[in-house]
Amino acid sequence: MSARDRDGDAVRLHVVTGKGGTGKTTVAASLALALAAGGRTVLLVEVEGRQGIARLFGTRPLPYEERAIAAAPEGGRVCALAVDAESALLEYLEMFYGMRRAGQVLTRFGAVDFATTIAPGMRDVLLTGKATEAVRRREGDRRRGGRDADGRRHVYDAVVVDAPPTGRIAQFLNVNAEVAGLARVGPVRNHADKVMATLRSARTAVHFVTVLEEMPAQETLDGIGEIRAAGLNVGSLIVNMVRPPFFAEPVLREVAEGSFDTGALVRGVKAAGLEDAEETARALAQEVAEHAQRVAGESGIRARLDGLDLTRLELPLLSRGVGPEELDELAERLREQGV
Ligand SMILES: Nc1ncnc2c1ncn2[C@@H]1O[C@H](COP(=O)(O)OP(=O)(O)OP(=O)(O)O)[C@@H](O)[C@H]1O
Ligand SMILES: [Mg+2]
Repeated sequence: MSARDRDGDAVRLHVVTGKGGTGKTTVAASLALALAAGGRTVLLVEVEGRQGIARLFGTRPLPYEERAIAAAPEGGRVCALAVDAESALLEYLEMFYGMRRAGQVLTRFGAVDFATTIAPGMRDVLLTGKATEAVRRREGDRRRGGRDADGRRHVYDAVVVDAPPTGRIAQFLNVNAEVAGLARVGPVRNHADKVMATLRSARTAVHFVTVLEEMPAQETLDGIGEIRAAGLNVGSLIVNMVRPPFFAEPVLREVAEGSFDTGALVRGVKAAGLEDAEETARALAQEVAEHAQRVAGESGIRARLDGLDLTRLELPLLSRGVGPEELDELAERLREQGV
């Protein structure tokens, strides 16, 4: 993901999506760390209310409040925030109408629930609204009410969103379309327009995480089509949990062609002094065949992904699982690839 896009605007809002379980949360966190390296401040936002970020960093559940969660090389800093629609709505009412008290009353009467359940588009615009507000925010904004932006530094150099999965991402980001049926004029409409302007601008990129398997790859291809159709920018393709092949290319080719020498395998197993040499060799040959098949399948998927003509980043499958230390390692891998 290049820091600058075609017309020279730096990407500052990074939305990370992908099929469920492919590593969205892990990649979003690693990306935030990579972007923070070099003394920058990055906000990592969670919108699904699952506390995946807190779990990953081994901290207590995140409140609706931005707080430092990790340090990056050379004085960089990652802050994290868990956004929920209800708190975002209360904050919104306070910011625009000075209505915090009224908001609390509304909550008590279930009006917030009502507003966010009856209109799922409203929920999304509140969540994306918070992320886009963080992108635009400059030092001293609260004091000055957002005026005289010139010359003041952005509070965050970048914002990374651990977003909903591919199946829901286009709807999540296309708040404009959803709110259109809800409010044609007025403050809700204006807010939605402002959010949408940031999402559609060159400052926003939607990154897709996938693994080298059929279903996630297909969802990625479909998701990219939907995001483009909604007029949003697709950023990078991040292939996660990549496993290096166990065998060199010639061995894999022999297996594929059926010319793999199982006799040699039997002799090898015998030479190693293992019992049931024939049986063990047969089981090993079976494993080799399955492995070769998987590698062949993976290169087929790679070829299809190549057709997308996107920047492709790869992250290895870490055998020991992922905690804070592994996140630093994955962030380093991303930096090596130009993030
Ligand atoms: N590169 C990796 N190496 C090893 N394990 C990984 C890697 N990336 C992710 N994982 C593991 O895979 C699991 C799923 O990752 P993660 O929670 O980031 O996915 P997700 O897409 O956010 O899932 P969900 O759809 O449930 O939100 C986790 O257990 C995570 O630790
Ligand atoms: Mg997740």
